[in-house]
Amino acid sequence: MRRVFTAVLSLTVALAIPSAAAAFSPGAPGLGDPFFPDQGNGGYDALHYDVAIDYRYDAQSLRGTVLMTARATQDLSSFNLDLRGLQVRSVRVNGRFADRSQAGQELTITPSGGLRAGRTFTALVEYGGTATPVVDPDESIEGWIPTPDGAFVVGEPQGTPGWMPVNDTPRDKATYAFAITVPKGKTAVANGKLVSKVTLGGKTTWLWKEDDPMASYLATATNGDFRFWKTTGPGGLPIYNAVDTAFGPEDQAAADEVLAKQGDIITFFSGLFGPYPYASAGAIVDDADFVGYALESQGRANYDRVPDEDTVAHEIAHQWFGNSVTLGSWPDIWLNEGFATWAEWRWGEEAGGPTVQDQFDRFYARPPTSSIWSPPVAGLTDPADLFTSSTYIKGAMALQALRVKVGDPAFTQILRAWFAEGRAQTVTTADFIALAERVSGQELSPFFDTWLFTAGKPVSW
Ligand code: ARG
Ligand code: ZN
Repeated sequence: MRRVFTAVLSLTVALAIPSAAAAFSPGAPGLGDPFFPDQGNGGYDALHYDVAIDYRYDAQSLRGTVLMTARATQDLSSFNLDLRGLQVRSVRVNGRFADRSQAGQELTITPSGGLRAGRTFTALVEYGGTATPVVDPDESIEGWIPTPDGAFVVGEPQGTPGWMPVNDTPRDKATYAFAITVPKGKTAVANGKLVSKVTLGGKTTWLWKEDDPMASYLATATNGDFRFWKTTGPGGLPIYNAVDTAFGPEDQAAADEVLAKQGDIITFFSGLFGPYPYASAGAIVDDADFVGYALESQGRANYDRVPDEDTVAHEIAHQWFGNSVTLGSWPDIWLNEGFATWAEWRWGEEAGGPTVQDQFDRFYARPPTSSIWSPPVAGLTDPADLFTSSTYIKGAMALQALRVKVGDPAFTQILRAWFAEGRAQTVTTADFIALAERVSGQELSPFFDTWLFTAGKPVSW
């Protein structure tokens, strides 16, 4: 990690210690998300992370070094990062050793002098320990999840601090470089483009670089025994695929067949929503079905089994809706899942299956007692409800109902404007309602009250 040391040295030279530290105050230890109030931290804006991790397979332990480059947004006497279940060995801020303490998911760092608002600074954290998955309110697991041959690494909604110190909030996107060291012969796949793969002694370091800003929950560093290859998609887009070698010949063939459709799906969604937002794409197909879900890791979805085509379309759609246009707060999860489900249906129609309206009608036939109707789509109050069928299905139905109400041309314009205006940012349900009303020229609050904010089966709208 030559880059790490170069950056540390140059920033040490550039360091300016303010003379009066009295007005400097601690950055907030959380951002008050309604579901995960400790997630993220105040007082700075993370710009880039250089992540180096050495994963010891025998002990399932990892040793990491993370260099965060950030800009202070207030005069800081201390600031926090999120880190779960791992022990910090040292911290340097602008190259100088800094005090630190850990409590729960909070790593508090107190540099020897304050950090002035507007200044760029670096924090270098050395840490390690046994990777333990994070357990969510709905009892699903995420983070660094050991598998028989490596680790399945996924972060939504709070798994990334399980393997690296990070400002764990969708509201602070940053670029990332990952140097993942695994035993020789293993494959490590992170986000972005593969820069190099260097074998030294019995270990191989896979260096990946994601140059487009990314929400922390979309980071991956999945590793294990994979068949790994690079191909190209539309416009020469690099597509990196990894398929677990543990699958038998039938599953291998099924994986190849479904992954071969990624290029066409990307082309179709690019035409519908606007250009694909990232410089690379691909899939990680792990044999880890005990995890129970797939995740749209940026530019590189994680699948816990060989996915069907609907799931591949769903995770690719998230690259626009979720990854580029990102929720700013977790109760707005339908902005990710409702949109990806609608897009999944739309791809199904394109591929010759049922139309989106067929899907709507099929689900609309479910009785009022069905679990798809509750809780309400937007304004969730319980973090255990994040990934319920209402978020996905009723969320997608709300969009289809909107399409019928405003007409297909206006609806398409709404989707395109939502992407064009929200690209690389964070958004809210209120933003979407305002945009839909602006583009359609209709007053839609009764419609959205019915479809988004009211539990139960809508009867008229
Ligand atoms: N966003 C994923 C999807 O596309 C689901 C992630 C579920 N995460 C979890 N921790 N349960 O459907
Ligand atoms: Zn999804």
